[in-house]
Amino acid sequence: MEKVLFLDACIREEGSRTKQLCEVYLEEFCKAHPDAEVERLVLRDGVVKTHTLEKLEERDACVRAGNWDHPMFDLGKQYRDADYIIIGTPYWDLSFAAILKVYLENIMVADLTFGCNDQGFYGLCKGKMMTYITTGGGVIDGQNYGYEYMQAIAKMTGIDDTECFYAQNLDIVGFDADAIMEEAKEMIREAFK
Ligand SMILES: Cc1cc2nc3c(=O)[nH]c(=O)nc-3n(C[C@H](O)[C@H](O)[C@H](O)COP(=O)(O)O)c2cc1C
Repeated sequence: MEKVLFLDACIREEGSRTKQLCEVYLEEFCKAHPDAEVERLVLRDGVVKTHTLEKLEERDACVRAGNWDHPMFDLGKQYRDADYIIIGTPYWDLSFAAILKVYLENIMVADLTFGCNDQGFYGLCKGKMMTYITTGGGVIDGQNYGYEYMQAIAKMTGIDDTECFYAQNLDIVGFDADAIMEEAKEMIREAFK
């Protein structure tokens, strides 16, 4: 059975347009992969916290001792073992909502999700594809830095393929936000045909 990890890094609970695109993607994905098991991780629910010095020291001690059973590694294992990673996050301050970075700081652990040797980093994750979904109030074209950063994270963790779907200019007066959203949803549906 294929495992899908949906990282819901949308901040607005009601009315998030990013979440709307994610739901269309997930619906199409599940039609194309009827046996897939989707796990949803809602980051705004407080599942991840920023690091403290104490927490980092505890983590280092666990890694040194090979204590990979500690619950602090559960999210990293979940990411490592997923066949597909789907990320939904609004386009904030030229990249993404900060909660996604906090999540990454929790899962990026040497010898768990990536390794390192004299050639640099190599990935330890199973994922075949990372899908990045975002919506922006203004222009995203040419400055999709959040996606570019996540492409680097995918590569570092061993996920070779990435794709991105987005809707832009949703908050600019004079643009038809509903029509832009419909177009983005259609592009997602087309990608599965
Ligand atoms: C804190 C914050 C930062 C934002 N930064 C940007 C930005 O840098 N560029 C942009 O085009 N829109 C920006 N926006 C607008 C959002 O990208 C836009 O409203 C988006 O559709 C929100 O997604 P949502 O409907 O899923 O919440 C920002 C909005 C907020 C609240």
